[in-house]
Amino acid sequence: MADHTAPEHTPPGATLTGGARGEPPGEIPPDPAEARLRALYPHRAGIVRLNLIASADGKAAGADGTSRGLGGPEDQRILAVLRALCDVVLVGAQTARRERYADLAVRPGLAQARTMLGLREHVDVAVVTHTGNLPPGLTPARTWVVTHAGSPATARLGPEWAERLIIAGDQDVSPRTAIGQLGARGLSRVLCEGGPTLAGRLLNRGVVDDYCLTESPVVGAAAAPAIPPVPAGMDEAATLEGGGFVMRRWTRRS
Ligand SMILES: NC(=O)c1ccc[n+]([C@@H]2O[C@H](COP(=O)([O-])OP(=O)(O)OC[C@H]3O[C@@H](n4cnc5c(N)ncnc54)[C@H](OP(=O)(O)O)[C@@H]3O)[C@@H](O)[C@H]2O)c1
Repeated sequence: MADHTAPEHTPPGATLTGGARGEPPGEIPPDPAEARLRALYPHRAGIVRLNLIASADGKAAGADGTSRGLGGPEDQRILAVLRALCDVVLVGAQTARRERYADLAVRPGLAQARTMLGLREHVDVAVVTHTGNLPPGLTPARTWVVTHAGSPATARLGPEWAERLIIAGDQDVSPRTAIGQLGARGLSRVLCEGGPTLAGRLLNRGVVDDYCLTESPVVGAAAAPAIPPVPAGMDEAATLEGGGFVMRRWTRRS
C-alpha cells in the first residue's frame, strides 16, 4: 500500500469514527501522537501484520497501476500509525518498484510514541525479490533484501548490500523462514504492505496474525490484481470509517 512518496510530515488527516469490536463507536479526531489509533492497533513483538487497501471492486491498484489513487487522508492516517508501530515494512519487489519505495521517515508526533515504546528510531524496509532489482530510493542503511540461494540478486547487488542480504530459502523465499530471519535481526514487528502476490503467499502459509484491510470507494483498474480475502479463522477487532473508506482490523483467533 503506497504512501512512501507522500510527505510524512503533513498534518494528521481527517476525522474517523468507529472503534474496537464491542465498544460503542466514537469519533477520533486528528491527533499528532495518534494515541487512540495506537491503542486500536497495538503491535506486539512477534506479530506479522498485513495492511492493504482494496478498491470498491476488490482490486489492488487504480488506473495508474499503483494503489495511490485508491487511498485518502483517512486510511493514510492509519498507515502512518501502523508504520510507526513496526520494526520493518516488508514488501514484494514489484510493489517497491511500482510504488517507488524509498527509506521511510516517521512523523514527528509519532516518533516520540515510538521512543516511548522502546522501538528503534527508524523503520527498516525489507524487499522480497528474486531478481534483486530495487528502486533507487532504498539504501543499504535502511533496507534488507530478502531472497533465496538460487537468486541472481546476490550477484546483481553491489558489495554495499552484502550485510543486508537475507537468504530465506533455496529456490524460492519461504515466508516463514523470512519472518524468522527478520526476527533474528531484532525485526519482529513486521508490517507487510503487499503486493497481492507476496500477501497471498503469507496468508496461504498462515504467517499473518493481523490483517488491516481498507475498503476504498474508488473503482480499481480492470487489469489490476485482486486483493486476497481475509482467511477463515480471523475475527474483526476494530472498524473505522471516514470519507467513504471503511478500515477493518482482523486478528487471528487464538
Ligand atoms: N492495494 C494495496 O494495498 C497494494 C499494496 C501493495 C501493492 N499494490 C499494487 O500491487 C501491484 C504489485 O503487486 P504484485 O502482486 O504484482 O507484486 P508484489 O507481491 O509486490 O511483488 C512480487 C515480486 O516479489 C518478489 N517475490 C514475491 N514472492 C517471492 C518469493 N517467494 N521468492 C522470491 N521473490 C519473490 C518477486 O520480485 P522480483 O520481480 O524482483 O523477482 C516478485 O516479482 C502494484 O500494482 C502495486 O501498486 C497494491
